[in-house]
Amino acid sequence: MNMVECIVRKRDRGVLSAEEISELVRAYVSGVVPDYQMAAFLMAVVLRGMDESETVALTKAFIDSGETIDLSSIPGVKVDKHSTGGVGDKISLILAPLVAAAGVPVPMMAGRGLGHTGGTLDKLESIPGFTTQLSESAFRDQLASVGCAIIGQSERIVPADRKVYALRDVTGTVPSIPLICASILSKKKAEGTDGLVLDVKIGRGAFLPDRDETVKLAESLVRLGKGLGLKTVALLTEMDQPLGRTVGNRLEVLESIEVLRGQGPKEVRDLTLALGAEMLALAGKIRSPAEGLSLLAGLLDSGAAWKKFLEMVRSQKGVVSFVEHPDRWQKAKREIPVPSPTDGWVAGIDSLVVGKLCVDLGAGRSRKEDAIDPAAGAVLLKKTGDRVEKGETLVVLHADRDIDAGEAVRRMQAAVAVSDRPAKAAPLIAGRIG
Ligand code: URA
Repeated sequence: MNMVECIVRKRDRGVLSAEEISELVRAYVSGVVPDYQMAAFLMAVVLRGMDESETVALTKAFIDSGETIDLSSIPGVKVDKHSTGGVGDKISLILAPLVAAAGVPVPMMAGRGLGHTGGTLDKLESIPGFTTQLSESAFRDQLASVGCAIIGQSERIVPADRKVYALRDVTGTVPSIPLICASILSKKKAEGTDGLVLDVKIGRGAFLPDRDETVKLAESLVRLGKGLGLKTVALLTEMDQPLGRTVGNRLEVLESIEVLRGQGPKEVRDLTLALGAEMLALAGKIRSPAEGLSLLAGLLDSGAAWKKFLEMVRSQKGVVSFVEHPDRWQKAKREIPVPSPTDGWVAGIDSLVVGKLCVDLGAGRSRKEDAIDPAAGAVLLKKTGDRVEKGETLVVLHADRDIDAGEAVRRMQAAVAVSDRPAKAAPLIAGRIG
């Protein structure tokens, strides 16, 4: 395999063989191919794409770069959920214990924040003591005893994706259907799940801003997932405004706790229930989605899902009294209200701008080595469709670091469109593929 030849062929719209792709991935992981050549190759893939056979070969090469987890000792159909990345998307924190409370094991290997989007691992690690680094045997034991576990990718699981993902984040090579498919599906196959529900984000804050491309991504993920032997289904869900009322790690844990206790924003609860019902259906637990929705709603309202969440926190060494008493949490040093510049109705909240602003407040990373500020983020007091008066607070920004408050307020005001006519948010679920 000659790396320059592979880059040039892809640049010129050519097709690579499975052997070339496998060799190229192996050579990158072992350090023979340097970052700059891989970055050039990734950019060629972003611009020229890959056909289905190349995407399958890339996914398999990623899986083969490391070990796979064998969960066959855990009885029942194991089902995971994966989101393609959103702003304010805290669903996994609620969904894993909820579905486990319904008797379906949930092995969840999650990620960190990428670009303007948040990551489940960063959110969970804002709970003192919580560890997302479990050994394979501890992961299996927790699945057997608690019914769910949320962990990070170890060094040994899909190391190719770990390395490529970090490079994509800093080289503008995230928005690519084959690269996203290979990245997500290799991890899901390696973690040992039997079924996978994909939450494919569509709209302004999604990685692929073009709606038609996002539908193609969902179709490819489902087709390729099934090709790998995973029961796969995808929901297309709106990211034209952030999900729920909070963006930022600890703020999102707080909102998750509210939903787990039977409260919280309706949209967060509704999406959790919809994704959960799909998971139960894949596991063969229910006969109809309606049955799943009412079963899961009952588990939220009865406190069963909350109890399961506490079990998961305890098992992963998180401080349980911390999540039990959010009223005692230390607040961010600065809370900056963002007033509405005019009267009207909120017509939209640009998730991309909100996500980037929250990264700058400290809720995400601009560089790989950056530390996260768990308290940083935003609380959205108004959402699309809400009436607002001039001067009324739209959003409260939370920050510990020294920031230019005036500039942050201006950026947030620019993200919130206020119209002189009543507006309505688009339905949260834009489609289903599976
Ligand atoms: N999530 C992933 O795991 N990989 C991607 O490439 C994008 C989102």
